[in-house]
Amino acid sequence: MNKRKAEVRRKYDTTAKAYDVRYTEIQNRKYLEVFSKLDVKISDVIVDVGAGTGLLLNFLHNNKGNIFCCDLALNMLKEGKKKHHHSHFICADSEFLPFRDSSADIVTSFTVFQNLPNPSAVMKQIIPILKNGGALILTALQKKYKIEDLKKLIAQTNLKIDTIWNLTYEDTSVIARK
Ligand SMILES: C[S@@+](CC[C@H](N)C(=O)[O-])C[C@H]1O[C@@H](n2cnc3c(N)ncnc32)[C@H](O)[C@@H]1O
Repeated sequence: MNKRKAEVRRKYDTTAKAYDVRYTEIQNRKYLEVFSKLDVKISDVIVDVGAGTGLLLNFLHNNKGNIFCCDLALNMLKEGKKKHHHSHFICADSEFLPFRDSSADIVTSFTVFQNLPNPSAVMKQIIPILKNGGALILTALQKKYKIEDLKKLIAQTNLKIDTIWNLTYEDTSVIARK
């Protein structure tokens, strides 16, 4: 495995137990702001890339059964599984996502891309998974990703940007459609 990826995995594996205490409020602020701009149907299938401990499941609790949480760090997923016994947690590197083409209405990735050694490779995985008309929600730390950087990333794909903006707290964010 790529050295940087292995370091990221180790970091999240060793800090997994403390993650929710430290980040629930912060991540919820991001979810609130992003999902005020996008309607989510109860039937929508959502793939959450870099889902961590599954904080998004609390926020989108009506969709819980249809959310697939993928993460590289097994301990993060185990923390999620403790809270959400019946939800779907998948240990996978975002460069190798185990989903059928056109299987997701929405792909989300909150505060993950700043960790990725090869973001373009991850975009290549995400695009086929999205249904036509499906939405990608991507946020990344502003200190690493400016609006221009996200625009460049989306420009490599066939997605069209709906909205792109700096979140009130910490991340740059884009909603784009296939
Ligand atoms: C800041 S946390 C965000 C977690 C979650 N999205 C949230 O909103 O709380 C970043 C997560 O990305 C995961 N991650 C980093 N690189 C990854 C990769 N290559 N594939 C899958 N997950 C990755 C980490 O393990 C960590 O759980």
